[in-house]
Amino acid sequence: MTEAQIPGPDRPRAARERLIVALDFQDADAALAMVDRLGEEVTWYKVGMELFYAEGGQLLHALRGRGKRVFLDLKLHDIPNTMAMAVRSLSRLPVELCTLHIPAGSEALRACAAEVRRIAETRGPAIGLLGVTRLTSLSPPDVSDPWRDVVSLAGQAMACGIYGWIAPAAAAPLLRGAHGPCPALVCPGIRLPEGAKQDQVTVGTPEEAVRGGADWIVVGRPVTRAEDPSAAAREIVRRLV
Ligand code: C5P
Repeated sequence: MTEAQIPGPDRPRAARERLIVALDFQDADAALAMVDRLGEEVTWYKVGMELFYAEGGQLLHALRGRGKRVFLDLKLHDIPNTMAMAVRSLSRLPVELCTLHIPAGSEALRACAAEVRRIAETRGPAIGLLGVTRLTSLSPPDVSDPWRDVVSLAGQAMACGIYGWIAPAAAAPLLRGAHGPCPALVCPGIRLPEGAKQDQVTVGTPEEAVRGGADWIVVGRPVTRAEDPSAAAREIVRRLV
């Protein structure tokens, strides 16, 4: 299947469009206060389980109402029919990117990919599905070949017609080398060289991620817990140019 046939948003060209800020907050008030504070500096936001389970779709509509673009990071992992129907339900919300766990299996991935294709054919723009390779908080299962699992899971997702991958920045050049430029690549676990790793094991800088072939980077605490979040976002975007 060619890239053009796989539904999902256009890949970003401008540096500012490459930054996705993770809104890891407990409630909509705190999250939207951060969004308003960041203003024009940030277009894309990632909403994860913490916030979505508390606030639901209303928060996503509030983001869309502010002209923001939404990556919903729910990391779906279930039987094929349940995952495909979850994708169908999420497609009613203003969501452009959404995650699922690749180890859910090829049948589940294909069912989800078929569902977004069906939506794209009948209703227009559909969600871009991102397969989670390995969480950046986990150590490699095989230290003698630390990226083997990530490269192989990425290949499995690609063969199933998934729009892109989530992977640590350090794996980006290997993924591009093994599987080429077509699938979108989103890298979390981003830190500035002097920044604390917190609970992340595999971290990379914004420059490393983009040089390695990432389309988007996901940054949470280095922006949202910074003394000056706008300045932190600006500094990250500057490094993406
Ligand atoms: O605060 P920090 O920059 O570490 O946040 C990273 C965000 O990216 C979190 O919301 C986390 O859930 C998410 N994420 C990740 N590793 C993955 C997939 C998502 O850290 N493989």
